Amino acid sequence: MRELSLNVMDIVQNSISANGTIIKITIAENSVEDTLSIVIEDNGRGMTPEQVNHVQDPFFTTRTTRRVGLGIPLFKMAAEQTGGYLNITSQVGVGTVVNAVFKPSNIDMTPLGDINQTISLLIRCNPTIDFVFCHSIDHKTFTLDTREIKEIVGSEVSLDNPDVMEWINGYLLEQNELINGGARNL
Ligand SMILES: Nc1ncnc2c1ncn2[C@@H]1O[C@H](COP(=O)(O)OP(=O)(O)OP(=O)(O)O)[C@@H](O)[C@H]1O
Ligand SMILES: [Mg+2]
Repeated sequence: MRELSLNVMDIVQNSISANGTIIKITIAENSVEDTLSIVIEDNGRGMTPEQVNHVQDPFFTTRTTRRVGLGIPLFKMAAEQTGGYLNITSQVGVGTVVNAVFKPSNIDMTPLGDINQTISLLIRCNPTIDFVFCHSIDHKTFTLDTREIKEIVGSEVSLDNPDVMEWINGYLLEQNELINGGARNL
């Protein structure tokens, strides 16, 4: 995939398919350690240890329409080709955590791409799911928690309301500029 934000979209779709109602996406960039970590955490149906082992193999899927599941293997490959790794911890009935670590200086690093657009799209298409998005670059960090937005706008306004989405997009843009120090736009 040309952008890691597209892989994130894929991995979050798994959380949605697993009936997750709270999905947390954390991006942490550390220039000193030369790492970019992406963690996707859900409270969905979870997997058995056997399934966790299997999903990292591109021939495993519980889909019935198509034999091969590629979301996790592709994300893992993108991490490993930079000298990083991917691990999954999961518990049936509790949820799943997918953690991928990349080495951004590696020549095979895939750019993060437009992660804010991915987050915005996920919120707009799934207004009943709660998303928590944390993005940090070195010591600068910000969080968007749709539960807090819901509290402000009230229960009668849906998050896919155009005015609410405009506010969310503006917030993501503004916070992104702050953590990038205005100097970089990936
Ligand atoms: N967060 C999750 N919670 C529960 N099960 C999961 C989760 N993520 C993945 N799985 C299980 O792992 C399988 C493989 O996931 P993967 O994303 O690699 O492929 P897929 O979703 O089946 O197909 P594709 O992503 O290629 O459309 C899924 O079919 C599902 O059974
Ligand atoms: Mg998938």
